[in-house]
Parts: sequence; C-alpha cells; structure tokens
Amino acid sequence: MEENGKTKEEILAILKKAKSADTSYERVLSSMCTYPHEIAVLAHTQFIESNMGDPGLFPGTFDLERQVLGMFGEMLHHKNSPEKAGYITTGGTESNIQAIRSMKNFRRDISKANIIMPQSAHFSFDKVANLSEIEIRKASLDDLLKVDLDSVRSLIDENTIGLVGIAGTTEFGQLDPINELSELAIEKDIFLHVDAAFGGFVIPFMDLDYSYDFKLEGVTSMTIDPHKMALSTIPSGGLLFKEPEYFECLEIHTPYLSVNKQYSLTGTRSGAAVASTYAVMKHLGREGYKKVVSDCMSVTKKLVEGADKLGIGTVIDPVLNIVALDVPEADLVRKKLLDEHGWHVSITRDPRALRIVIMPHIKNETIELFLKDLEKAIK
Ligand SMILES: Cc1ncc(COP(=O)(O)O)c(C=O)c1O
Repeated sequence: MEENGKTKEEILAILKKAKSADTSYERVLSSMCTYPHEIAVLAHTQFIESNMGDPGLFPGTFDLERQVLGMFGEMLHHKNSPEKAGYITTGGTESNIQAIRSMKNFRRDISKANIIMPQSAHFSFDKVANLSEIEIRKASLDDLLKVDLDSVRSLIDENTIGLVGIAGTTEFGQLDPINELSELAIEKDIFLHVDAAFGGFVIPFMDLDYSYDFKLEGVTSMTIDPHKMALSTIPSGGLLFKEPEYFECLEIHTPYLSVNKQYSLTGTRSGAAVASTYAVMKHLGREGYKKVVSDCMSVTKKLVEGADKLGIGTVIDPVLNIVALDVPEADLVRKKLLDEHGWHVSITRDPRALRIVIMPHIKNETIELFLKDLEKAIK
C-alpha cells in the first residue's frame, strides 16, 4: 500500500482502465451470468452496507429475505414455512455445499456417509467431498445425458445418506428424472437435493411437463440461483429446505452478534443480494420472467436452426437455453472463434462439443453474427 492515498479522480481512472480490460457480455456465449436488471442494481446499491450475517442490526433487509424465501417457496411448491427453511446464499456452490452439510449433520449416526449424484453434477459437489468426510459417488448417464437410475440404485448402500439430481445440468441443460429419484429417496429413506441453480428460474416459466420441486414428496432441499437467469446481482444464490429442521441443523452458536445463531456458510453476508433479488422478482413477476425465458428460447431455436444449415447438429435436443453444438475438433473451433472473432464459448467434457448458454444478453443479431463466424471457423 502506498504511504499517501490517491485522489478520487486517480482511483476512478484506474478503475476505468481495469474495467475496460474486462470482457463485456456481448460476445460471451459461455456464461450463466448476465447483466443484472436495472432495478436489481438500484436495490443493490441502496443496501450495500447491509450485513445479513448480523441480521438483528438489519431487520428491514431480514424481512425482505423472508419475503424472497416466500416467493421461492411459492415457485417451488413448498408447503411448510419456506421463510423459515432457507436463506440467500452467495450462489449455487454455497447452496450445494450447505445442502450436503445439512444431510451430514442430520445423519450423525453414519460415520462413513456417501452421497450419490450424476456424473453431470456441478464441480461444487467435488468441493464438498474435499471439505468433508463425505464420499461422493458418481452415477453414469443415459444416452440423453440424464442420470441413469439403475446406476444410482446400484451405488446405494447402508452408508448412503442422500441423492442429488440436477434440474438443468451445467453443460447440456438436461433435466434429470427427479420424480423417479424422489421415489427412490422415499423408498430408501434418504435425502434428495435438487440442484436447480440454473433451471430454477427457467423451468417454471416454460410449458414443460416436468416435476422437479417440493411438489414431489422425496425432494428435501433445492438450490436456485437468482444471479443466473433471474437477473439479480452477484452474489445471489438461494437454498431452500423442505423442513425448517433440515435448515436448523446448520446452526452454529454466535457468541457476540445481534443474534446468537447463524446458519450460513459465510459469516458476513450480502444484504445487497437480498434487496436486489427482492426488487427484480417483484418487478418482473411471473409474466416478466416468462418473457425473459421465451426470448432466450427463441434465440436458442435460431441458433439450432442456423447451425443445422451449416451441417452442425446438437448433442441433445436443447431442453433449456443451453446448446451443445456437435462440431468436429471442438477445441480447435473454440480457439479460432476466440482468437479470430472474439467469441467466448466453452467446451463440454464428454462428448467434447461447443457449449453455448443463451443468456438474456444474447439477441438474434448476436447469433446471426456468431453463425457467420462459426461457418468460417469450421472450414
Ligand atoms: C447446476 C449448477 N449448480 C451449481 C452451480 C454453481 O453456481 P455458482 O457459480 O453460483 O456457485 C452452477 C454454476 O454454473 C450450476 O450450473
């Protein structure tokens, strides 16, 4: 640190330069984040000092959080006091870690606990394995890249405390058979966590015949991320348990705060994320989100049709607004798209394909430009 501070103008100039080196989302086709909604930004800046780690000092923000949980509960068919059964996390990773931590705390009777999840599960679950004594077992996928139920069943033993299913996989946007996983969880009397970090703000706004939430008896917790498709600000994640008691077993005694218990993984916690999520959900409402999702799905269709004209198929028929383009030498094409045309796309692991997430910042015109460059890159 320098001895004497710089002026405000000097600092702002440095920040401007740093920001100009960042990538703007216009050519980012690889991210599950996007520009937050204007009202979310406004709300965020108004609550910038609010710390939900010490909620007794911020009863107003705390009340907003209860209301957000109520809205999540309604969206996810929660039946039992959602406002007492979760919190706003920093994102999908924290929610997933905490869901598993709750299972572990609830089943202290099992010392060598294991949890079974699809091979397609987000890498946040590998962090759980690394942090805890829990063994993570990966079930194989079927031809459509959904978790294979026989494989899940074959991995269950007397130390299995829970299952995980994904409603909108990170790489392919595929939907696991949560209904069947729920039946299996009930049969075996174990937990079922549904990771709907991405799908949670997409599926409810589409016409899909698909059950994945607390409507299903076996679902015991869910991850749902406002900082992805809900257009809230980073860091806004959501975690909701079926029963307040599953949430309560995350309790840690806090000796010197305004409340004497804390449930979150982080200590200091952003009230700005709470306010921004509240603001954007209240502002957009169901109709607003239906429009966001239907616009993304129509751009998704445009991409698939355009790719088809170039002779490029998709690994699976896209279910959500995530497309995996089956191009030969995907890694090379990705490099060309970036080096020669400035497009950021990512690559799926197995099979290797060009992964494109159609977030709200991607418009029809973006896809037209992208397809032209893709045509050059595959030559
Ligand atoms: C299905 C799923 N779960 C969890 C996460 C982790 O979310 P975050 O990056 O907000 O921690 C992601 C992120 O892409 C995801 O797609």
